[in-house]
Amino acid sequence: MKIGIDKIGFYTPNLYVDMNKLAVARDVEPEKFTIGIGQEKMAVPPLTQDSVTMAANAALEIIDEVDKEAIDFVIFGTETGIDHSKSAAVYVHHLLGLHPNARSIEVKHACYGATAAIQMAKGHIALNPESKVLVLGSDIARYGLNTAGESTQGAGAVALIISANPKIMTLEDKSTYLTSDIMDFWRPIYSDKAFVNGKFSNEQYIAFFNTVWDKFKEETDMDLNDFEAICYHLPYTKMGLKALRTILDDVPEDVQEKLKANYQASTQYNRNVGNIYTGSLYLSLLSLLEEKSEDLDSGSRIGLFSYGSGAVGEFFTGVLEPNYQEHLYKNHHDELFASRKEISVSEYEEIFEETLPADGSNIELDINEDPAPICLSGITDNMRQYVNKLR
Ligand code: HMG
Repeated sequence: MKIGIDKIGFYTPNLYVDMNKLAVARDVEPEKFTIGIGQEKMAVPPLTQDSVTMAANAALEIIDEVDKEAIDFVIFGTETGIDHSKSAAVYVHHLLGLHPNARSIEVKHACYGATAAIQMAKGHIALNPESKVLVLGSDIARYGLNTAGESTQGAGAVALIISANPKIMTLEDKSTYLTSDIMDFWRPIYSDKAFVNGKFSNEQYIAFFNTVWDKFKEETDMDLNDFEAICYHLPYTKMGLKALRTILDDVPEDVQEKLKANYQASTQYNRNVGNIYTGSLYLSLLSLLEEKSEDLDSGSRIGLFSYGSGAVGEFFTGVLEPNYQEHLYKNHHDELFASRKEISVSEYEEIFEETLPADGSNIELDINEDPAPICLSGITDNMRQYVNKLR
């Protein structure tokens, strides 16, 4: 039975900062951010967007009545969840009006969470071929103002429906993975900003990629020639390129050129959003499918490298279905990007410093400024209040 990605939705908040202007404000050459890091725009979430609302907004565009009846499992991958106990998936389940006979859980391992969710979803569909699983990857990447990590912040969510006989991509069975207890990036419970050993994290990302890629080649009869593209977890778009470059010499020049061109297409969305942690790899896949000037052939194999600091890495593959492009929401995503509003560096700094109360006090937020259908409207008696404006 074929199991894979049936639909992909995406959401990013409506505010962004231009990386050229952030560079000037931080007294670095703009090319460091736009070329050295590879980022053009950084999404900035207003207080009215959190990991729950972004995931619900990403899912809203792709879910129809048939999906609502069939989804019996919601798996929410995040490392910026809103509650230590209640899963973010339950909130999204309610906001979308899904069928009550469903499981709803949150999973965590840094940026790897959504990949864990997809693998779990595959197992569920194998046992229950009629059902569909809603997988969410949603995060706000925060390192702090004037930190080395600042240029790699971002915010957004990806929603995927995993089903039998998928319309976009069949996920193949072979997968290679690796766990090692390292401290390259972490966020203790008491902190709303990540701690990171930046250079070490870059080295480990590449070492993990090389290990799972070599294992994949050893355990299959495939090599780089079998791939149309490789999509990477993209904390910033130069990172995946560094990993890709370590294996490009394995193939002839023309294959190298094809892989590099497809890599560029797979980074367009991420370049304009920033790191969205759990959703980043799937945003890159979406970017490849929607931003590539010519459609890829059905049957094209795409490699997927997932990395979550701490660390877990995995390499797995998918094969494109015929007419996959007819099942994308490219127009919606073009509109989402086109309708965003640029804010100045000082406005971004102000928004960054505004945080929700952490002392149990109530707050009411103005959701009229936020064009998203689903928003956080406040906190009452320690309970987040969500609004779906479409209901
Ligand atoms: P930094 O120290 O500010 O930057 O930190 P740098 O000095 O290393 O420079 C960055 C690049 O810009 C270099 O290129 C420079 O040469 C280049 P490279 O040598 O690396 O190819 N550069 C220029 N290029 C053109 N023109 C110029 C110029 N000047 C310099 N004028 C760092 C960069 C990424 C370390 C920092 O932003 C950081 O710590 N970010 C957060 C950590 C991170 O993203 N790590 C990535 C791997 S770990 C991961 O992916 C997991 C993660 O997503 C979390 C999770 O799993 O949950 C982070």
